Amino acid sequence: MHSPAPHVLHYGISKPLIDAGISQHFTPVRIPNDTDYSGLAGSEAASIRAIAAGGGHDPIDARFFDRLPHLEIVASFGVGYDHIDAAEAARRGIVVTHTPDVLTDDVADIALALLLSTVRRTGEAERFLRSGAWLADAFPPTASLRGRSVGILGLGRIGKAIARRVEAFGLPVRYCGRRNQPEVDYPYYADVLDLAGAVDTLVIAAPGGAATDGLVGRAVLEALGPNGIVVNVGRGSIIDEAALAGALADGTIAGAGLDVFAHEPQVPEALLACANAVLLPHIGSASHHTRDAMARLVVDNLVAWFAGKEPLTPVPETAGRRTAA
Ligand code: 8YV
Repeated sequence: MHSPAPHVLHYGISKPLIDAGISQHFTPVRIPNDTDYSGLAGSEAASIRAIAAGGGHDPIDARFFDRLPHLEIVASFGVGYDHIDAAEAARRGIVVTHTPDVLTDDVADIALALLLSTVRRTGEAERFLRSGAWLADAFPPTASLRGRSVGILGLGRIGKAIARRVEAFGLPVRYCGRRNQPEVDYPYYADVLDLAGAVDTLVIAAPGGAATDGLVGRAVLEALGPNGIVVNVGRGSIIDEAALAGALADGTIAGAGLDVFAHEPQVPEALLACANAVLLPHIGSASHHTRDAMARLVVDNLVAWFAGKEPLTPVPETAGRRTAA
């Protein structure tokens, strides 16, 4: 007998390619307000075997898993998965997949765009031109990338892609991360404070979560010094935003370029008030090219799983679970 296509819950995500892929291969389940999964009826919840999840901040945790007794796989749209309790998923035999690799280059590009626009003040310079101020005077000279040394916090796939770009700009690279990577030539610092003391430009590409929460605070910013620049394309939670706003306002560091914030889409007033901060609305992976690749990977992970194959890109915590039951 023909068994019904597995039920897949759309959770915090609606993208044409994901919607089309799930409708083609599965039975889509939507809940009216998908930030409130308690609205799922018991029978509907029991039918759900998979979730296609947004990369946002609505937690997918033990309380969520409790409601979905037949959940097998969570396919998340994004490389970062700090909103998913992957350890709890692993304990329950639930696979979590994410979208690494396909977004690496676009996110690294935005890190360099932020670095350049923060140091050379390109956003301000453009506003200066559009306002007509150029007719009266030249835009004043800015700081430069020349002579800078760059520390990368988090030398994973994206951190390495940033490092390659920074090297192409002729700047030395150092890094800090969970582990020393002997195969990498850049000097390693186990402590971010030591890294900050050795560089004047800190680029954050680390994952969010408890291990990195508030890692970059007042002491790290002081160690960077008055020429210091901070760029963040990792997670907003890694920076103490109040400390950063204070350091930007009082000249402890020179500038910051941020694509991520602790409570998106809220951006603290204190940061909005800083002319020496370049602030972007989390666009690192947001090109058509990359978002389409991410969407395809979400669907392909689900299709592989329910075809009895290994998921394509499981997170490390749940790697090794082989096939759908
Ligand atoms: C996405 C991201 O914008 O991949 C990540 O971890 O933060 C970004 O690529 C996000 O996942 C989409 O909500």
